[in-house]
Amino acid sequence: MKTLVLANQKGGVGKSAVATLLAHHLAQKGRRVLAIDLDHQGNFTQPLTLSKRPVVASITADRLLTTAGARVAAERFVLVPSSDVLMGLERQPAQHTPFAQAFRNFLASSAQQFDVCVIDTNPNPDIRVIAALASADYLLSPIQLNQEAIDGVRSLLHHQRVGYHKIKAVLNPKLTLLGLLPTLVEPTPFQRSNFIALIERHRSLMIPLSDKAGDYARIPKRSAITEALAEGLVLWEMKKTAARETWAEIEPSLRHLANLLTQQEARHAV
Ligand SMILES: Nc1ncnc2c1ncn2[C@@H]1O[C@H](COP(=O)(O)OP(=O)(O)O)[C@@H](O)[C@H]1O
Ligand SMILES: [Mg+2]
Repeated sequence: MKTLVLANQKGGVGKSAVATLLAHHLAQKGRRVLAIDLDHQGNFTQPLTLSKRPVVASITADRLLTTAGARVAAERFVLVPSSDVLMGLERQPAQHTPFAQAFRNFLASSAQQFDVCVIDTNPNPDIRVIAALASADYLLSPIQLNQEAIDGVRSLLHHQRVGYHKIKAVLNPKLTLLGLLPTLVEPTPFQRSNFIALIERHRSLMIPLSDKAGDYARIPKRSAITEALAEGLVLWEMKKTAARETWAEIEPSLRHLANLLTQQEARHAV
């Protein structure tokens, strides 16, 4: 099982949207998917539950940190849903190490049951994010194309508690940064120039789709995506032309991300 964490210390940048699209896509490709929602806001839980595609686990995600030996059903697509209890974990500092350990043990004990685990996180850099990154294989960081977000990339890399380099050096040497995924992308001059600025400053963190200049993984802002999330629909099954067009736009990015996760799996398996 390969574990992917979606994280960015900003809210509203499309983390949960990408997590949802990716989880459905991986499941549709026949992968056994474990989805974990560590954000008490439940924006990963809600569209997945509404879609009725995953089996919803009988335990909530907080239990994966607080309870030793937690297990989920052996199904092909399982969601461990969000809960308000997740909010209180940060306030128990004496338990933080056991929380991270329990979460790591849970993932290890589920490794044979699933091919991919997708973890959605809360924006505040707390023990939930640390526990997820401390045990993950990959980090993907959705980012909006504004100056503040571009400036925030430094924090993603160097934050003293949850920064990629910190986690990798101290807690999890195997963690790999898949890269930055521009989300809610709009064809405005403002966003275009920010896209160029992002590429200039952080080219090595972008996720190329092809050799074509500027062809990086990205998710456009589309009402069909908002609608799919709100109604728990699977984007590529929606009948509307707009939904089909949106799917055609984002499919290359999702397919590439799914391949990055699962090709590695194949390589390791050899
Ligand atoms: N690509 C997109 N196109 C249109 N709306 C989107 C897109 N991605 C996210 N949204 C909407 O934007 C809001 C914030 O997205 P969300 O994924 O919840 O962000 P985060 O998890 O980073 O807080 C939600 O209302 C969601 O439905
Ligand atoms: Mg979210």
